[in-house]
Amino acid sequence: MRPKELESVARSLVEEGKGILAADESSPTIEKRFKSIDLPSSEENRRAYRELLFTTPGSSEFISGVILFDETIRQKAKDGTPFPEVLSRQGIVPGIKVDNGAKSLAGFPGEKITEGLDGLRERLSEYREMGARFAKWRAVIAIGDGIPTACCLKANAHALARYAALCQETGLVPIVEPEVLMDGPHTIERCEEVTTAALDLVFSELLEHRVPLEGTLLKPNMVLSGKECPKQADAASVARATVRTLRRVVPSAVPGIVFLSGGQSPEQATLNLSAMNALGRHPWELSFSYGRALQEPVLKEWKGDPARVGVAQKAFYHRAKLNNAARFGKYTKEMEATAT
Ligand code: 13P
Repeated sequence: MRPKELESVARSLVEEGKGILAADESSPTIEKRFKSIDLPSSEENRRAYRELLFTTPGSSEFISGVILFDETIRQKAKDGTPFPEVLSRQGIVPGIKVDNGAKSLAGFPGEKITEGLDGLRERLSEYREMGARFAKWRAVIAIGDGIPTACCLKANAHALARYAALCQETGLVPIVEPEVLMDGPHTIERCEEVTTAALDLVFSELLEHRVPLEGTLLKPNMVLSGKECPKQADAASVARATVRTLRRVVPSAVPGIVFLSGGQSPEQATLNLSAMNALGRHPWELSFSYGRALQEPVLKEWKGDPARVGVAQKAFYHRAKLNNAARFGKYTKEMEATAT
């Protein structure tokens, strides 16, 4: 794919009012999510759940792309249509998670490095054949006593850049995801400091690896107080700190920034995104690529019951619509109660 085509896919993923559904939970993660509704994680349950999400009527009004997991990209809807085609027929771009997960970084207790570069070029070509047009790789940065170390930040930034370069060579838009975790008692100021350092290194590695930023999307954490911090910053402070951080380190050549939700409640993730977009115009689109914040209400409604697919789809549509409002800075808590 030529750079112009990568740029056009990247732009379509952050089209006005739309965002990405992250439905790329690995097998252990989806098992955890299903446990919350007392549902065994069988292959058929996983398939049925993804079909529910991907066939929600009207969701393409608000969803530009969906990130799939290796198993999911190979699965089909009940009528035999492969999932990537189910999505692309609706004008939704199929994407794929391509990392092999975050593993302990040798010599650095409490820190992680994401694996999956070996054989990546071949896997990317296969995914492209199957219909994927973008990819995702997640690096995980924990905040704690003496961490993150410079070595952990550098190793993860380097891996992200190698992944991004391979994606572009294969004709896939890379979503670069360095996630600074919200676990811990740290302050919002500490989160800002770590996020700034992490992103600064990521962009210097991307430039060094000759990755054109116009065909790349960034998926960062928001700048938040740690989950166990006694003082929790409100949405206005989160919005100011996050936008200030991004303005300092993210080049305006990047078409869009698609936040992860990272364990925030669905309402919080929507409110914070809306507060950022309400601040005015930014050099990049500010959008979402939520997993839990889009899916929590859906799982709660579905409960694994085929008779509840319709109500669960309504919950998904509603959540996506609220995030559409947040893309324009127009979400209010009162909208939560509005019938779809
Ligand atoms: P959450 O929004 O649940 O953090 O998931 C997004 C994601 O894709 C993490 O890699």
